[in-house]
Amino acid sequence: MSEARIIDGKAFAADLRGRIGVAVHRLKTEKGLVPGLAVVIVGEDPASQLYVKNKGEQSRMAGLHSVTHTLPAETTQEQLLRLVNQLNHDPAIHGILVQLPLPKHIDSNAVLAAIDPDKDVDGFHIVNAGRLAVGLPALVPCTPLGCLMLLKDVIGELRGLHAVVVGRSNIVGKPMAQLLLQADCTVTVAHSRTVDIAETCRDADILIAAVGRPEMVRGDWIKEGAVVIDVGINRVPSADPEKAAQGKTRVVGDVAFEEAKAVAGAITPVPGGVGPMTIACLLLNTVTAACRSRGLPLPEELV
Ligand code: GUN
Repeated sequence: MSEARIIDGKAFAADLRGRIGVAVHRLKTEKGLVPGLAVVIVGEDPASQLYVKNKGEQSRMAGLHSVTHTLPAETTQEQLLRLVNQLNHDPAIHGILVQLPLPKHIDSNAVLAAIDPDKDVDGFHIVNAGRLAVGLPALVPCTPLGCLMLLKDVIGELRGLHAVVVGRSNIVGKPMAQLLLQADCTVTVAHSRTVDIAETCRDADILIAAVGRPEMVRGDWIKEGAVVIDVGINRVPSADPEKAAQGKTRVVGDVAFEEAKAVAGAITPVPGGVGPMTIACLLLNTVTAACRSRGLPLPEELV
């Protein structure tokens, strides 16, 4: 038995961003279309600030028109809704992302519902969830879209494979299951109330872990040769007790990587697997939204 192939999401994402850059340049020169992304952040959560900074930088590097709206934590829901409405009507903006979490006094669902579904590059609007569920052209949440791209790159044809998705969140688990169904997989969604989750996972040709529990999926949950996609990003104390005592941490996934690597056919590492795909797919969704707004097909570099 050989060790699993390590799926290099960082390299795949860099290649995708490169292709997006080429496509954006052609859209600009040939069609006079500059895809525009507006990112809105409310408050000063450091993790959110870092995400938003990375989104802005990577958008600009790919040639997108990128605008960041930084609002104070005291912003009212009404003020935020007014900004969303303004962006909905701005012809230079094709994608709108409101960074989550929002401050407690703001109803996130009301804000997400106010975004024009055709500009909803997060794919969080219920109209996009519905479109995805019935197989209409949708904007698809970035993380599951990135997972699907990695799976197709590693496996090729997914038809007939048994995919087990562990986790049923609206952002990852549910849309992931829909995408795998659309790719003709047989799909099982496992979750905290599944009776024998290990046994369910052992039947998976494709195993997606998206639960947010550090190293929950063990090596003996995995069928030999299965392709394992680890969506988890969990911060835990350093493995070195001395460093842990100093408060040092490390990031692990939802899969016990070393155990899984000995059994799986291919596996995404954490970090460097799914994570880098998420922002690349946000740029891709912005280009998709811009092209659809003009009735243009997606540039050939991105098909
Ligand atoms: N917060 C953490 N990840 C995300 C994301 O993908 N989209 C939004 N809107 N907020 C987030």
